[in-house]
Amino acid sequence: MAPFRFHVFVCDQQKPEGVPCCAARGSGQVLEALRREVAERGLEGQVQVTACGSLGLCEHGPNLVVYPEGIWYSGVTPADVSEIVRSHFQEGTPVERLACADPAALRAEILDNREKMLAARRAREAAGVLPDELNERIRAFQESRAVLTALELDLFTAVGDGAGAVEVAAKLPADPRSTEMLLNALASLRLLVKREGVFHNSPGTARYFTAGSRDNARPALLHAAHLWHRWSTLTDCVRAGTAVARDEIAGGGQDWTEAFIAAMHRNASERAPLVVRAVGPENVRRMLDVGGGSGAYSIAFAQANSALRADILDLATVEPIARRHIEKAGVAARVKVRAGDLRSDRLGDGYDLVFVSAICHMLSPGENLDLLRRCREALQPGGRIVIQDFVLEADKTAPRFAALFALNMLVGTRGGSSYSESEYAAWLGEAGFREVRHTRLPGITGLMIGWWL
Ligand SMILES: C[S@@+](CC[C@H](N)C(=O)[O-])C[C@H]1O[C@@H](n2cnc3c(N)ncnc32)[C@H](O)[C@@H]1O
Ligand code: FES
Repeated sequence: MAPFRFHVFVCDQQKPEGVPCCAARGSGQVLEALRREVAERGLEGQVQVTACGSLGLCEHGPNLVVYPEGIWYSGVTPADVSEIVRSHFQEGTPVERLACADPAALRAEILDNREKMLAARRAREAAGVLPDELNERIRAFQESRAVLTALELDLFTAVGDGAGAVEVAAKLPADPRSTEMLLNALASLRLLVKREGVFHNSPGTARYFTAGSRDNARPALLHAAHLWHRWSTLTDCVRAGTAVARDEIAGGGQDWTEAFIAAMHRNASERAPLVVRAVGPENVRRMLDVGGGSGAYSIAFAQANSALRADILDLATVEPIARRHIEKAGVAARVKVRAGDLRSDRLGDGYDLVFVSAICHMLSPGENLDLLRRCREALQPGGRIVIQDFVLEADKTAPRFAALFALNMLVGTRGGSSYSESEYAAWLGEAGFREVRHTRLPGITGLMIGWWL
């Protein structure tokens, strides 16, 4: 028996500029409308909607095909979606005006397009033309830089409910000519919409990039803008073997620290429930959160177990930020922060959990071994260390995020990197931990856990 009554494949292929494709003709909006309509009509259990690559009718897009009948619809707009869902999926009658009436002609056109596409590809290869994927990868920084500049200028807030280039420039303040160039580029990226010379935020930028929005992520995203400057030194760092910028993570000034901890807080708050569940807070009485940042993890542990007390160790510049978060969460009686240096301080004693989240990647292998030894000294027998980090596969080429993050550490630290499971296991063993295991978590981090028995 088929798992769904209907399975709809919607082509969402993006092709290089100037080449006809469904994405350029609005397949994204069609997909969105289709998913919304299917949900609103309570058909999610019967209709499966899947975005797919080119269906071979690129000049007639957006295209979609519905199985089990194999009905092809072309030139679909968001306005057609409601009729397709009602007539085809609810009443069982395909929408004739949009459906392909001649399957043999359809098949011939698809095969013809495929042959033309392969011939064009062969011709480009023979002529030694740089493949689009490589070209796009080389230029990808332009899009990123345009958005980062807009965030630095707080441009999306200036656009507000709609504004022309001169008005936006006056608010920033910035030069009107260059502001218009930036606004136009952002509109080409669909982060803004331009109507009769007036720019409007897209739903996404209005929600995530503007002051006053509950979900405004700009303070945290400014950390990425700071990282940009570090990454521009990558070539020199690769030559030198270490960061060439003078300041380490710790020394970028209070603006840097605020953005950095805001970025950490955003990630940590999202992941904390998952991590707390995976660790199990039930039997923890005293935990030490080494380099605890905003305190998001300690707060989550304290909220999950009312008998748990947590100490956060972090830099003096971060201490007041963590205190703010702890007070806001109402756990100040049980979660304390102290300023110190995780690279050299004795870490205390009598803890039954030492949590080390997103710290080891800042340190060199030797520094990690030293830190893990001091973590073990801070534990009481029977206690455990939980390291959360980006754990690389054995050959260090995956996951991609962790492999790229190693470069982030190269440009930002003296000896940091991403490390593999076997490296963590070796340090933990050498530091005296037993029953070491790797717990994989959904998302980009994993846990390395070891016991002091
Ligand atoms: C990547 S953040 C991780 C924060 C937190 N553990 C988390 O997972 O969200 C690294 C933290 O280590 C702190 N840190 C860096 N160097 C430190 C040092 N020498 N001593 C104490 N804390 C330090 C930073 O201030 C920051 O809060
Ligand atoms: S891009 Fe959609 S059918 Fe080719």
